[in-house]
Amino acid sequence: MKIALTGTPGVGKSKVAELLEKRGYEVLRLEKIADEFIIGYDEERKSKIVDEEAMDEYIKKIKEKDVLIIEGHLSHLLSVDGVILLRCHPEELKKRLIAKNWDERKIKENLEAEALDIILERALEKHEKIWEIDTTGKSIEKVTEEVEEIIKKIPPPSYGKIDWSEWLMENA
Ligand SMILES: Nc1ncnc2c1ncn2[C@@H]1O[C@H](COP(=O)(O)OP(=O)(O)OP(=O)(O)O)[C@@H](O)[C@H]1O
Ligand SMILES: [Mg+2]
Repeated sequence: MKIALTGTPGVGKSKVAELLEKRGYEVLRLEKIADEFIIGYDEERKSKIVDEEAMDEYIKKIKEKDVLIIEGHLSHLLSVDGVILLRCHPEELKKRLIAKNWDERKIKENLEAEALDIILERALEKHEKIWEIDTTGKSIEKVTEEVEEIIKKIPPPSYGKIDWSEWLMENA
């Protein structure tokens, strides 16, 4: 079973993946393999353009032993059996991205993407089994526990309840 762990930059995907790995889960970090699938560079957005289809072909060929967690902000575009989507209130996300030394424009772009549910919308184009977790005010350990619960139980999908539109009205 392949499970995507996705979310806007700064929501805590990598930190949670680290803890899952410590708990014995098999984790694939897209960051580590993405360079092999770069087909260009978006000057305006200052980001690499990845050949999503080629990356998906690579993922499809993996024969996982048990659960394979595929971590990265493009993982919801891949052929996985379910998608865990980490969310974070834009105010808190802003603090995390400032701490990561991101420039103001990129921070603004990402806060808006989070507030507009962009990843959820894209994930829904391909998947039904989606579970959103609100990480706001939760420790990385707590979020990891919630992720583990989902992986173990595969509960009914749960998404669409998180709503940052108030922030959007006040800030966009
Ligand atoms: N639940 C949390 N509570 C407080 N701080 C957090 C939490 N999760 C992550 N952080 C902090 O936010 C920052 C971003 O976390 P992390 O690098 O895991 O995000 P990411 O989703 O992997 O981002 P990217 O897409 O840029 O790789 C880190 O400094 C991390 O310590
Ligand atoms: Mg990361």
